[in-house]
Amino acid sequence: MTTRSLQHVIQSMPTSDGAGVKLRRSIGAQRGLYLDPFLMLDEFGTDHPGDYIAGFPAHPHRGFETVTYMLDGRMQHRDHLGNVGDLGPGGVQWMTAGRGVIHSEMPLQESGRMRGFQLWINLPAAEKMKPAGYRDIPAAEIPELALPEGGTIKVIAGTVEVAGQTVSGPVNGPASRLSTDPLYLDLALPAGARFEQAIGASHNAFVYAYEGSLSIGDGAAAKAIPTQAAGVLTPGERVSLTAGPSGLRAVLIAGEPVVQYGPFVMNTREEIEQAIRDYNDGTLAKAA
Ligand code: FE2
Repeated sequence: MTTRSLQHVIQSMPTSDGAGVKLRRSIGAQRGLYLDPFLMLDEFGTDHPGDYIAGFPAHPHRGFETVTYMLDGRMQHRDHLGNVGDLGPGGVQWMTAGRGVIHSEMPLQESGRMRGFQLWINLPAAEKMKPAGYRDIPAAEIPELALPEGGTIKVIAGTVEVAGQTVSGPVNGPASRLSTDPLYLDLALPAGARFEQAIGASHNAFVYAYEGSLSIGDGAAAKAIPTQAAGVLTPGERVSLTAGPSGLRAVLIAGEPVVQYGPFVMNTREEIEQAIRDYNDGTLAKAA
């Protein structure tokens, strides 16, 4: 079984979006610096209302999914379909823009801390124009597990096995499998605690530490990832990570790529290579 290690680091850069909301962008910060199927990861976090008060007034999306995970503070979502949802601490909003959504995301507070993430997940070509979908997941619906070595894990999407217990998050569990098969975990580990997680071999994966530090891999092969940067992992079937001396809070995110190579849009590198071979040897347009 292959264990993943650190492939490269995408540093986050300060930027702003919406009506001037200050944030740090890692995945997607520069053209081409994304990790299929993840187009963007923004971390927003501030105690200053001036950094967030103007919010994200009405704007459109098409062709992908936006996932907002609140750590602190409250935002309200409204969209052209009539959905209204209040996002509170620990809550998630999973929106499938599909063929199109026009929505706003505005703060429900005038003071205090606002902190969280927004992740953009691409959709396979065949699903880009499907009807828009929207789901509010309050914190109480997200399983939180105690880890044997201390610390906790919240399972937003995908499945974890801890101490012989298998737990699925409210998104992408057995009942609602998404085609990019996302895994989205929020980890809180004390200093030196180790955590191991299975990740689909064909998935792309990264870790983003928003407090403290961590290393990927074990023993001499361990590599440190800086805080507030996306650590992109090499291929493999498992990852083990260890919290640094001041503990760790991090998100671990993985998903099935939606590979595009020129005119071919498939789901794995092997399928793209097969499409190129089929074209080159003249079998692409022949009936199966
Ligand atoms: Fe948006």
